[in-house]
Amino acid sequence: MSITVAAFSGSLRKESYTTKLVKAFQKLAPTDVTVNVIDISRLPFINQDLEENLPQSVKDLHKSVEQADAILLATPEYNRSYSPVLKNALDWGSRPQGKNAWAKKPVAVIGGTPYALGAFGAQNHLRQVLVYLDMPTLQQPEFYLTNAAEKFNDNGDLIDDETAKKINQVWSEFTKWINKTKS
Ligand SMILES: Cc1cc2nc3c(=O)[nH]c(=O)nc-3n(C[C@H](O)[C@H](O)[C@H](O)COP(=O)(O)O)c2cc1C
Repeated sequence: MSITVAAFSGSLRKESYTTKLVKAFQKLAPTDVTVNVIDISRLPFINQDLEENLPQSVKDLHKSVEQADAILLATPEYNRSYSPVLKNALDWGSRPQGKNAWAKKPVAVIGGTPYALGAFGAQNHLRQVLVYLDMPTLQQPEFYLTNAAEKFNDNGDLIDDETAKKINQVWSEFTKWINKTKS
């Protein structure tokens, strides 16, 4: 059965390792999985005043989430938490009240940093929020990209076999999880 995954990078930086990681997941996705990378750079800052007349970017976000069977969230680490860019997208997707587009969508969390801890703090915080958003979250394998600067070439392609192997492991478990949990 084919699966559509909406993937989100929590970094807007042009040379973002997080975005390169999302693209590596997209490239290594199983043949029956389509990964759509969703642009969240145009979302305004969350503001309830805008809910009366939702901006098109917010409507587009809701549509992308609703049309997806599952969600892939990739986060950088900012001060041991996940990025405000990603939080903003999560918050908009959960509004207006009673219209939580994320609910019941199976999700996997990934992330990385140029350092040794691979965005553990960020992913750990993010997982807490996914509980409240009612998203069945893949528990294992966890995915921490360490020393990210060494893992991509100048074109942004993944050049590390170990990381590719780990990505394949995530896909293997995530697809099983999606088939088990998607409503
Ligand atoms: C505001 C800010 C806070 C950061 N805090 C952390 C941190 O807590 N842990 C960490 O490993 N790196 C931290 N970094 C460094 C990021 O890991 C690094 O800039 C990384 O490249 C950001 O992800 P990106 O490449 O996807 O943009 C921080 C960077 C910024 C801009």
